[in-house]
Amino acid sequence: MGPVSLEQLERPARVGERFLLYRDPERAVVATFGDDVRAGLSASRKHLSPKYLYDGLGSALFEAICFLPEYYLTRAESEILDRFAAQMVGSLDGKIEIVEFGSGSARKTRFLIGETLKRQSRLEYHPIDISASALIGSATALVAEYERLEVIAYASDYFEVLAASRLSTSNRVLALFLGSNVGNYEPEQREALLSAMSSAFKPGDALLLGYDLKKDARVLELAYNDPTGVTAAFNKNLLGRINRELDGGFDLDAFAHASRYDSVRGSVDSYLVAQRGQLVSIDRLGMAVRLSVAEPIHTESSYKFAPEDIERLATSCNFRVARTWTDEADRFAVSLLVIV
Ligand code: TRP
Repeated sequence: MGPVSLEQLERPARVGERFLLYRDPERAVVATFGDDVRAGLSASRKHLSPKYLYDGLGSALFEAICFLPEYYLTRAESEILDRFAAQMVGSLDGKIEIVEFGSGSARKTRFLIGETLKRQSRLEYHPIDISASALIGSATALVAEYERLEVIAYASDYFEVLAASRLSTSNRVLALFLGSNVGNYEPEQREALLSAMSSAFKPGDALLLGYDLKKDARVLELAYNDPTGVTAAFNKNLLGRINRELDGGFDLDAFAHASRYDSVRGSVDSYLVAQRGQLVSIDRLGMAVRLSVAEPIHTESSYKFAPEDIERLATSCNFRVARTWTDEADRFAVSLLVIV
């Protein structure tokens, strides 16, 4: 099977009243996953892309992470949106459409949807998420909750959606990139993604960017390695997904979840570490992966930022920072970036 593109997207399905869903064909999704797993596990330093953490089960486990006492990020960001959504929406002129990258459960989005619907009669909401099941769940709930909301959803990779310029927005765009999602990209990809966002929309359109602030290593490491073991289950589900979708033979008990803050790069790096030497077959890929004892598979980097880091990023991607809000405890920040 060749590379996947949005050109192959099936016609949008009308999932419900006021809810349209574009999704990549199932066989294409499995093919890309297979290609990426093969490349990542054949590399000298093994890695798997974090976007594959979010299948149906992974998205549900991430939801659970958001409720962990150690994972302060979601609560801090909710506090900011709850307090300042009116100011955020009020910073833009004209009729607004909301585009969200990585919408997940879209729980926090409600603060912004509610504010926007106070000032206009209808709202188009375009959520983009790698997980079709998360989109179906969240959008079904949203259209039931807000009578004046219309959802046009995209179950795909952000870059694919942006490159195919599928997003047919006509009004003032408020794009959302929340949850420190921006921190899951390496610096080069991060710039490429924000640049693609600024070129996809018009001058005066805005991006609301949520990011985790640099802080004490112990606090950060605990947020990514909770004693309940939910984060470990979330990370290991990636191996479970390889077993389910690609006929892999991973023994999940033979791996341990590990997270470490690298203060030089400013990133919490998460790994799955082999607890013994092993040879694992992945039948659908016709390959076998050899791991030595203590060998790590890198699954995600979660970069942390100082406000100056975001200023620099914004400038190099054709945005200017209009305003920044933080939570009371100064753990997390949300900046409004306006396209120049
Ligand atoms: N976007 C989340 C973050 O960077 C994802 C996440 C939370 C995560 N905990 C994790 C990814 C543990 C891998 C491992 O905060």
